[in-house]
Amino acid sequence: MDLVDVESRLREVLDGIAGATHLIDAGGKRLRPLLVMLGAEFGPRQDKVVDAAVLTELVHVGTLHHDDVMDQAPVRHGVPTANVLWGNNRAILLGDLMLARAAELGAELGLPALRLQTTTLARLVRGQLMETVRPKTADPMAFCLEVMADKSASLFSMAAELGAVVAEADPAVCAALHTYGEHLGIAFQLVDDVLDIVGAQSGKTPGTDLRAGVVTVPVLHALAAEDAAADRLRVLLVAGAVTDPELHAEALTLLREGPGPPLTRADAREHAERARSALAALPPGHAKQTLETLCDRVLERAA
Ligand code: IPE
Ligand code: IPE
Ligand code: MG
Ligand code: MG
Repeated sequence: MDLVDVESRLREVLDGIAGATHLIDAGGKRLRPLLVMLGAEFGPRQDKVVDAAVLTELVHVGTLHHDDVMDQAPVRHGVPTANVLWGNNRAILLGDLMLARAAELGAELGLPALRLQTTTLARLVRGQLMETVRPKTADPMAFCLEVMADKSASLFSMAAELGAVVAEADPAVCAALHTYGEHLGIAFQLVDDVLDIVGAQSGKTPGTDLRAGVVTVPVLHALAAEDAAADRLRVLLVAGAVTDPELHAEALTLLREGPGPPLTRADAREHAERARSALAALPPGHAKQTLETLCDRVLERAA
């Protein structure tokens, strides 16, 4: 049982729906299914693992369809997004369909797995919703981290834990994997937010967060500096979304050259280390080793 089985099962459950495999065919790191498979190595039961991995990727790709509508993103994995090809309505419905198929698969996995799936989806959507409002709190950094944890880390922690749950691993192992996934996910999203600023070959359009008015950790670090660049950024970002092409280019350059990227990478390193620490109690072996490697890989990724 490996990722090849996940690939064919993914296509099997989406078969017959026009456009449903467009994004899946274009690429994707399959990081979350990998976490499911690795989590499952800690338990004795392997018959539900592929469906658990498939449902996790379906939730991921379904919410990416919704996210690209929200961000008006034109490109992902180097190909036009569903919203550009077929319009927002169809992109949203394709996303809904993937979430529905994921729920069908989850219903066959038993109540603990389904509960984990549903609470995670609620958390993820809450994070996406929170991202659309300007924080009313005095601590925008804490708000931003909470949004990231909900919208992204939730699915990473679900993935790692779900594999162990369906494999009937020890509850302490499931809990450790949950913590691991949570911190790995935050590290991953922090790097993603840096790539949105500095990324050249991510297969996505750099500056999408800025254009969509999404305030990310590197932006907050840049704004915290007390210099002329930070002053200018404050002016540029005052209205939220930066859509004017010239002002967008100016803001992106200021962000790229400011303290945001290195400080955010340092934050990501901290979370990757916390993820690694969560693995300490797990039994040694292939799964643990690969999970450790992922702590480095998320920091090094360029796409
Ligand atoms: C994109 O995730 C969404 C974020 C949480 C940043 P990935 O970068 O893992 O997307 P795929 O799976 O490779 O398409
Ligand atoms: C989206 O975060 C996370 C979810 C889809 C829940 P981003 O907006 O940063 O993801 P990308 O950069 O579009 O992949
Ligand atoms: Mg996006
Ligand atoms: Mg992003």
